[in-house]
Amino acid sequence: MIVPFGELKRNYLACQTDIDIAVARVSKSGWYLFGEEQENLENNFAQYCQTKYGIGVASGTDAVQIALSACRVGKGDDVLTTSNTCVPTIVGIEATGAKCIFVDIDPRTYTIDPDLIESRITPQTRAIVVVHLYGQCADMDPILEIARKNELIVVEDCAQAHGATYKGQKAGSLGDVAAFSFYPSKNLGAFGDAGMVITSDSDIACQAKKMRNYGQDGKYNHIIRGTNSRLDEIQAAVLNAKLRFLDSWNGRRQQVAKRYIEGLKNHSLELPYETEYGKHVWHLFVIRVPNRDEFRSDLVSKGVQTGVHYPSPVHLQPAYTEYEAQKKYLTITGQQAGHLVSLPIFPELTDDEINHVIKSVRLV
Ligand SMILES: Cc1ncc(COP(=O)(O)O)c(C=O)c1O
Repeated sequence: MIVPFGELKRNYLACQTDIDIAVARVSKSGWYLFGEEQENLENNFAQYCQTKYGIGVASGTDAVQIALSACRVGKGDDVLTTSNTCVPTIVGIEATGAKCIFVDIDPRTYTIDPDLIESRITPQTRAIVVVHLYGQCADMDPILEIARKNELIVVEDCAQAHGATYKGQKAGSLGDVAAFSFYPSKNLGAFGDAGMVITSDSDIACQAKKMRNYGQDGKYNHIIRGTNSRLDEIQAAVLNAKLRFLDSWNGRRQQVAKRYIEGLKNHSLELPYETEYGKHVWHLFVIRVPNRDEFRSDLVSKGVQTGVHYPSPVHLQPAYTEYEAQKKYLTITGQQAGHLVSLPIFPELTDDEINHVIKSVRLV
């Protein structure tokens, strides 16, 4: 048996009729950008996330950039975030002209450690981009408290946390503004690139709306500097069709995670930690092992594909050497990076495949 790390076709087949109807509707409509599908998705997804406004954009990276720019963060500003994240978090921050200041992570959740935030604030710090990594929210209450005290904007990077909650509140509704990615393999994924900014602040929403459309306020009236970042009607229709399955898909991810945790609890590896304050939506199931390369190749020989999220933190990537000097503040990030392995987790994984993963890991 081969257990794939992911297989998007299975997800399409799980809701094929709905998707085919939605795509055909757009094809026949003759209207492909800024239409009804986008508007429906913006309303539906904002409501799903317990916020007032949704602004569809072309990707999660753009969503991070536009969320920050809409809060007037830019050149000369510092933005706090974590280095154990997907590089696009940093791409989005830097696209505003701001620079990153990294904060170390909580060793159990891999999300920003609130106790370390204040020591990293500079006179230029304007915002914190909190990444809800792997499907679990960071500990938002102390983060929001520090932000309030220091007048910092809080942007939630929810690219991996569609439907996750913190103390009963949805990811994306906790800070000032949030960025989502609908990259195909996300918990809610499009058939290409797509993203969304969500907020309950009307001024931020208004700025973001202009920004994604060349800074226009009405046709050919460019009142701010913007960009082209549109979520097209086909992607919006696909996402609208899939949104109604999101909770049940997240439920299945939770079942898979539970099975892994039960099946692997007495084995010599570090399992993911679930906080008591939130609902984890298991975008990724990340374990820690002493010898990653050997572990992964052993699993491949048993038919189990794995991933690594992420092989190296951003400040140690070749393109980001200017951040390497921050290494001294990132001990936990640095210690863990070489040991992380992601096991297959997606809603269409079968019971047999789950058992095969557990059996194979136990034999390594
Ligand atoms: C944490 C995080 N932030 C931002 C992004 C950017 O999303 P996209 O690939 O849609 O630009 C991703 C997705 O890869 C991500 O995982």
